[in-house]
Amino acid sequence: IPVPKVQMQKIFADRYRNKVIVAPMVRICTLPFRLLALDYGADLVYSEETIDWKIMRAEERHNDALGTIDFVDMTEGTVFLRTCKRERGRLIVQIGTSDAARALQVAKRLEPYVAGIDVNMGCPKEFSIKGGMGAALLTQPRKIHEILSTLVNGLQVPVTCKIRILPDLADTLTLCRIIERSGVAAIAVHGRKKDERPQHPNNESVIAEIARVINIPVIANGGSKDIIDHKDIKLFGEKSQTCSVMIARAAMWNCSILRREGKLPIDDVIRAYLRHCIRYDNPFTYTKYAVQNMLRDLQESPRGKAFLETQTLLEIAKIWDLSEEYYAALKLQHQNAPIGCPADQR
Ligand code: FNR
Repeated sequence: IPVPKVQMQKIFADRYRNKVIVAPMVRICTLPFRLLALDYGADLVYSEETIDWKIMRAEERHNDALGTIDFVDMTEGTVFLRTCKRERGRLIVQIGTSDAARALQVAKRLEPYVAGIDVNMGCPKEFSIKGGMGAALLTQPRKIHEILSTLVNGLQVPVTCKIRILPDLADTLTLCRIIERSGVAAIAVHGRKKDERPQHPNNESVIAEIARVINIPVIANGGSKDIIDHKDIKLFGEKSQTCSVMIARAAMWNCSILRREGKLPIDDVIRAYLRHCIRYDNPFTYTKYAVQNMLRDLQESPRGKAFLETQTLLEIAKIWDLSEEYYAALKLQHQNAPIGCPADQR
């Protein structure tokens, strides 16, 4: 018996209550990082933003060698979304879109593998704005409503969006009410305006006001600067008066911030991350970028300097004493690859 839509919306909304969520981050939030975040205690993990056009022209492949589902960009021959069973039920894929019909078409393709679909309405980058996506949507309430309600009505998984605040509080609240009326399960709010940068203070009082006036879960975002220890995650939620929090940079710098038991030394975190990268054949450039963001000042150390010279995943693995694991993973991938699979796909 199908569950009535109103009841479904309540069930969906509950999935976003009392959660610690890892935010979408381009080049960081690929499968290995998401698995690391789940290891350390994240409740939900967002993918990096993917533009709808890219998903439209993608080919979906079962990768037997890795045990994953891959979305492959056929023009570039690259995998832009890789997912596995372990994150099923926890993965939210964020899309960049400016068109309701296209958004639904691509969300339908993703639906079997995700716990939810999120629409990026906060990205201030020129590429997004020019395409009418990201923060460009914040001033187009009609379009927002059209995109979100089309997704809500067309999908069997929850739909959310991630916004930035507007210059005026009343406008921000009006916007959030429109978003709520579109039927989304929750809304993530980064407490900065479109033109503000990480060095500007995050406006938790506006997030709190949004949480006060709307009835769906509000997920507070933007607090990483003050999230030094695990307990600060809760403090950020309290300051914002929201039921859930979303963390980007603090997780990127040291993902073990998510552990209730406390943070781990960064070398342990890097090693754990690299194990996932090796297991799931993460692209070298992405791996290097993520490790660089974990090392931060330590890039000046002898190990950091050796790391900066690396040009392959194996070279990175060697620095953290993981070459044996690298070769073992390679062997396993060869064994699992179907007979006749070309060497470059193994
Ligand atoms: C981001 N952010 C971001 N936001 C988004 O909606 N989609 C995305 O793909 C990205 N990509 C991205 C990459 C990197 C490297 C960073 C650091 C940030 C913004 C991010 O999700 C978040 O809103 C801000 O970083 C503020 O939260 P924190 O960092 O204070 O927790």
